[in-house]
Amino acid sequence: MSGKTILVTGGAGYIGSHVVRQLAEANENVVVLDNLSTGFRQAVLHGELVVGDTGDAACLDGIFSRYSIDTVMHFAAHTVVPESVANPLKYYRNNTCASRVLIERAQQAGVRYFVFSSTAAVYGIPPGGIASEESPTVPINPYGSSKLMTEWMLRDVAAASPMRYVALRYFNVAGSDPQGRIGQSTPNATLLTKVACEVAVGKRERLLIYGTDYPTPDGTGVRDYIHVEDLADAHLKALEYLRRGGESVVLNCGYGRGYSVREVIAAVERVAGTKLATEEAPRRPGDPPVLIAEATKIRSTLGWTPRFDDLDAIVESALGWERKLAAGTWAS
Ligand code: UD1
Repeated sequence: MSGKTILVTGGAGYIGSHVVRQLAEANENVVVLDNLSTGFRQAVLHGELVVGDTGDAACLDGIFSRYSIDTVMHFAAHTVVPESVANPLKYYRNNTCASRVLIERAQQAGVRYFVFSSTAAVYGIPPGGIASEESPTVPINPYGSSKLMTEWMLRDVAAASPMRYVALRYFNVAGSDPQGRIGQSTPNATLLTKVACEVAVGKRERLLIYGTDYPTPDGTGVRDYIHVEDLADAHLKALEYLRRGGESVVLNCGYGRGYSVREVIAAVERVAGTKLATEEAPRRPGDPPVLIAEATKIRSTLGWTPRFDDLDAIVESALGWERKLAAGTWAS
């Protein structure tokens, strides 16, 4: 333990809550800032929860004055690609403008390390569907643009100050805490694995397959699905890396393998032992056909080794969580 406190924005959300749990298991001090717009109070298993906005300078200054914070982990964001196409300014306000305020107040408070939740959406449509950290960043939706601008702010602030950062470009996050304490709990969720599991437990009637005419082997979109527990671990490894003097860096977080929508459906059917009702639908706005990580740099830079690189294991934990939600044993 460093004796310092880590500020986790969005720590009541899906990915943030898993990281908070792992930080506590590693004996780190944590304070969570979350406006509970999509997060849940009961998902914060450790540390104080401050209910507030990331873009609220006074709220941030209050936190920085009460705690001795040397690290910020910034998860709070809007994340739904088609929503960002329909309502771009919502995304720029929260993901870009609020991040600017956070970075400013963090810098003023002398924060040394910043771990940022970026996204594979910054790549747009990479050649061959595979993106390395050196691939051009040409987002095809406002969500990707809103996150890329925050990456640029961090790059420029790190060049002008002692602050160092790791930006983690997430591919498709799925699954839940293997011990079933927390999971993906968003109402009206849009994530494929979540929606498919909701169909499996009878919470939704059917799954819409958005696009069957993509230039992919079965015509449906292909993504690189990463277990949330491995992704959370990457944040702890990023922190260790920064603490041992690592330079600012941008890293992909994926396994380097793609699965189509139909393959994910088949995995959910296999694990749940039930057939899912599906319906073919038009392509969703803002969706690239294929998005797979070139995923070697994170291993060599952070010494990160995934432990749950298995689609059925991912689905099993996601389904377990969905059953728990359906049973009403976790009030969401
Ligand atoms: C997800 C993340 C996004 C991140 C991106 C990285 C969320 C809400 N989205 O977006 O932040 O930048 O990964 O790749 O966290 N699909 C269906 N039917 C459905 C839902 C999805 O066919 O009901 C298809 C989509 O068209 C797509 C694939 O499944 O081809 C994955 O979609 P989804 O799970 O929504 O994730 P992304 O849009 O890729």
